[in-house]
Amino acid sequence: MWDYTDKVRDHFFNPRNVGEIENPDGVGEVGSLACGDALKLTFKLDKAGRIADAKFKTFGCASAIASSSVLTELIKGKTLDDAMNVTNKDIAEYLGGLPEQKMHCSVMGREALEAAIENYRSGSTAKHELEGRVVCTCFGVTDREIERVIAENNLTTVEQVTNYCKAGGGCGGCHGEIEKIIERVQGQKVEQPMVPAPPQGKKLTNIQKIHLVQQTINEQVRPALRAHGGNIELIDVVGDKVIVAFRGMCAQCHLAEFTMRDVVESKLREFVSEDLYVEEDKDSVEEGHVHKG
Ligand code: FES
Repeated sequence: MWDYTDKVRDHFFNPRNVGEIENPDGVGEVGSLACGDALKLTFKLDKAGRIADAKFKTFGCASAIASSSVLTELIKGKTLDDAMNVTNKDIAEYLGGLPEQKMHCSVMGREALEAAIENYRSGSTAKHELEGRVVCTCFGVTDREIERVIAENNLTTVEQVTNYCKAGGGCGGCHGEIEKIIERVQGQKVEQPMVPAPPQGKKLTNIQKIHLVQQTINEQVRPALRAHGGNIELIDVVGDKVIVAFRGMCAQCHLAEFTMRDVVESKLREFVSEDLYVEEDKDSVEEGHVHKG
């Protein structure tokens, strides 16, 4: 018997926003009946672009239903950009926690939301899948998806990965590869080379500052972005403003704003100067590439 919180029980026995919106603005479907969990999320926007209504239909266990119910509550009233910031951790925390073996239910909620917003923005009705190479053929889970749950939830074992995205929960043939992905993602976290601390009490010269910014980006930021198929380029340093451009996966990533503040800016403040702030240059062209047309 699972040890469910009162909130999980409440949202399971009294799920909010069950059903399907007629003529929705966005539809997201994830999971499959064959895999035991499936979720369809629909939403409608108001004139101001906020989510006026959201409904769900879920096939699955108590955690899946409770997670879907909470998801709809969390996103109502939000703009799409704000809704995109809702994570599987937010869903699980709102529920007062989920059994570890059921964390994949919260991940499914987050994926359905991304699929529905993608559907609204691009009109795409393709089944939502993270890009990458399929590592777990039993559950169709890609390396990117595995990297993401490891990084976002600080996972360290194959069992945890299975709990969060189902990869590895079938024949077990992918366990070795999942272990390598854990080592790669966590290794990049713990084996970061030290960047020398800025001279205490002395103001950096402009040349020292630029050098330290570049070194911090090279050693503290870029490896983490590369693990997700992305990259970053230092464009300029003007006073305390550091201008960067995201490349690869990061250039299209809805989490770019989060990456800029919580990863790039915080590392630069830690290793270079508290006064630095970061801005993204969305118009810059990648070195070696030219604009066409
Ligand atoms: S291939 Fe991953 S469990 Fe079978």
